[in-house]
Amino acid sequence: MIVLGVETSCDDTAAAICSNGQILSNLVSSQKIHQSYGGVVPELASREHDRLLNSLVCNAIVEAGVSLQTIDGIAVTQGPGLAGTLLTGVCFSKGLAQGLDIPVIGINHLEAHIFARFIDKSYVEFPFICLLVSGGHTQIWIIKEFDNFKLLGESRDDAAGEAFDKGARILGLGYPGGPHIEKMAENGDPHAIKFPKSFMNNNSIEFSFSGLKTSLLYFMNNSKSSNEKVLIEDVAASYQEAIIDVLIHKLKQSLDQTNVRTCVIAGGVAANNRLRRKAQNILDGISIHFPDINYCTDNAAMVAYLGEQKLDQGKSSSLQFGINPNLQLK
Ligand code: KG4
Ligand code: ZN
Repeated sequence: MIVLGVETSCDDTAAAICSNGQILSNLVSSQKIHQSYGGVVPELASREHDRLLNSLVCNAIVEAGVSLQTIDGIAVTQGPGLAGTLLTGVCFSKGLAQGLDIPVIGINHLEAHIFARFIDKSYVEFPFICLLVSGGHTQIWIIKEFDNFKLLGESRDDAAGEAFDKGARILGLGYPGGPHIEKMAENGDPHAIKFPKSFMNNNSIEFSFSGLKTSLLYFMNNSKSSNEKVLIEDVAASYQEAIIDVLIHKLKQSLDQTNVRTCVIAGGVAANNRLRRKAQNILDGISIHFPDINYCTDNAAMVAYLGEQKLDQGKSSSLQFGINPNLQLK
């Protein structure tokens, strides 16, 4: 089976081809237009998807060495995400599917992130705990099998990726913030500044990152007004450490509470090397899995891969299916 994947849930325009579980092409165009705003401008993102999608899909098909006529189905992100950007991808995909007379399937973006680890690698043993850390979500799931998930806990406010993005903005670094903070932190001392770490002293599986961001803002304002010299590298390293420590601590609690010994860390923040290394060091005796770096941040390969699995099982969406910006995983 040959499946085209289309992803437009936020500011990455992406198209990929998956065939029999193998990714044949995986193209992402990360929109630069938002950089000067320090965050995604939804209307601009939708227009950019509209402008880029056709040529990106054509290039993905050419790069995969297939032709439009050999595509058996289309998988497209249905939600969660920004309404306007989701609409561009879903309308494009429905139109193409109708023109080619092939099935189309709406994919849950969160589910695609969780199973991105399965691309090009051996299967992970069920059940596993998944720490899903992206720009919009910080959640811990127990995945009992394909199609059987239970949410153990999530963030009460900002997502971890959002904390990286907002922190980078305060520090005058670029967008998206995660890679910029990670780079700056490489030459800093992660123990230089004590930033707050929420919910470290209780058993609840929940997160909160908005206080951390405010604390960074106060710290920077105070050091400016008192003319105190601070090393931006130390600030970035300490801020990153506060996020990572909470993520790993709550992941460990979830593993202990459920007695599961396998975990997957997925989503854009899973690209962070310090998080990867620290998780390996701290979660002793746990089998830890990460998707390939190319499949952590938003991409269409994970959509095409999951879509192929579902189409293979005879599932598809009716041509009337709509977007769902608040789509949940059940
Ligand atoms: O999964 P993703 O691409 O989009 C959403 O579904 O939200 O995640 C994007 C988030 C952004 O907040 C970005 O700052 C963060 O992932 N991110 C990182 C890194 N690369 C991307 N955070 C920390 N370290 C990184 N290396
Ligand atoms: Zn995502």
